[in-house]
Amino acid sequence: MMQPRMLGMEEGKDQASVIRANISRTLPLRLLLFCLFFSVMAIGMSIICMYSVRFFVFQQTGIVTPSGLRPWFDEETDTIERWIRPPSNLWHSISDNELLWRASFVPKINEYPFMRVPKIAFMFLTKGPLPLAPLWDKFFKGNERHYSIYVHALPSYVAGYPSSSAFRGRQIPSQMVEWGKMSMCEAERRLIANALLDISNEWFILLSESCIPLYNFSITYHYISRSKYSFMESYDDPGPYGRGRYDWRMEPEVKLSQWRKGSQWFEVNRMLAVKIIEDTKYYPKFKEFCQPVCYVDEHYFTTMLTLQVPHLLANRTLTWTDWSRGGAHPATFGKDDMTEAFFQRIFEGQECLYNDQPSTVCFLFARKFAPSALEPLLGLASKVFGF
Ligand SMILES: *[C@@H]1O[C@H](CO)[C@@H](O)[C@H](O)[C@H]1NC(C)=O
Ligand SMILES: *[C@@H]1O[C@H](CO)[C@@H](O)[C@H](O)[C@H]1NC(C)=O
Repeated sequence: MMQPRMLGMEEGKDQASVIRANISRTLPLRLLLFCLFFSVMAIGMSIICMYSVRFFVFQQTGIVTPSGLRPWFDEETDTIERWIRPPSNLWHSISDNELLWRASFVPKINEYPFMRVPKIAFMFLTKGPLPLAPLWDKFFKGNERHYSIYVHALPSYVAGYPSSSAFRGRQIPSQMVEWGKMSMCEAERRLIANALLDISNEWFILLSESCIPLYNFSITYHYISRSKYSFMESYDDPGPYGRGRYDWRMEPEVKLSQWRKGSQWFEVNRMLAVKIIEDTKYYPKFKEFCQPVCYVDEHYFTTMLTLQVPHLLANRTLTWTDWSRGGAHPATFGKDDMTEAFFQRIFEGQECLYNDQPSTVCFLFARKFAPSALEPLLGLASKVFGF
């Protein structure tokens, strides 16, 4: 029984070798070479395709390495780095709607599975230049791990900061056409949304081109990071510049008794920053009914947050402003005002609550300072501000 079967297999083997011999005899060598050449070409083309797709995709997102081409095996794409790295280029072409949507992403697990150093996002709202940037550069120097900067200027403004400046490359794209009214709130939301894209940013401060820091970075950082509350000014002003700006058509979302006023210059933590950019309930009401002499930037953020999270607000601002001269605009200080005695008066006159305790440190920033104040300020900085 075994033998025929063994024989059959032997026969089959023989048959196979006969066929092989036939093939090698009948198939010309040239055809073989052609097949080989074709396969090498195909593999080569697909490698080139893969590289160029990556190259153009990265160019569009602004991530271009010096060599232009990235190695195909990129260790960052399969580690957590990929998800937590902030955009390396702030100059994107994302629309406002896309930006707000992306910025509203919030992790649902509260503990970070990596070492996160929380940063302060300094957000500068200016029409164009930042004349006091050299003073801020002095303030920021040596604290690179703990801050990020965002500048919102009119789209036409082309900034030219020296390469040593912390402001270089920090301008965000703006779709602003006119200065004032709702566009201010839009600009502020745009600043916050851009800053939210960096997962390390934990506190968000809005500043203007005429603001200066009053303390050094370490004091500023500790004051903000240890506060239980966000510094959003909020009060009920019964007069014409407070309740007088309310419009009944804002009901039922905002009632007269809920209408608040406060300084435009705020500091909020990440959670409140998300509340600001995700709002689609109050924003349309303010956009429609806080017009035309309503000064929406003095009412929108403070009213909206007081309605939602009153217990998280310090109800005061960190930015000192001198309204004592009266009128619609605060005092502006120039070169001749810059003396030690001037700042002594600012520091001595402070009294407030910090984490529910009385404190004499209430303002970390001050405005308004003219460009002419820069030189004397640089001279006074180490003695008066400690940086
Ligand atoms: C701020 O005001 C709200 C009421 O609008 C209040 O609930 C909250 O406790 C105040 N914050 C502080 C720190 O007192
Ligand atoms: C910041 O200022 C405080 C008080 O002026 C000072 O004690 C501290 O050493 C300063 N910190 C730095 C890093 O210069």
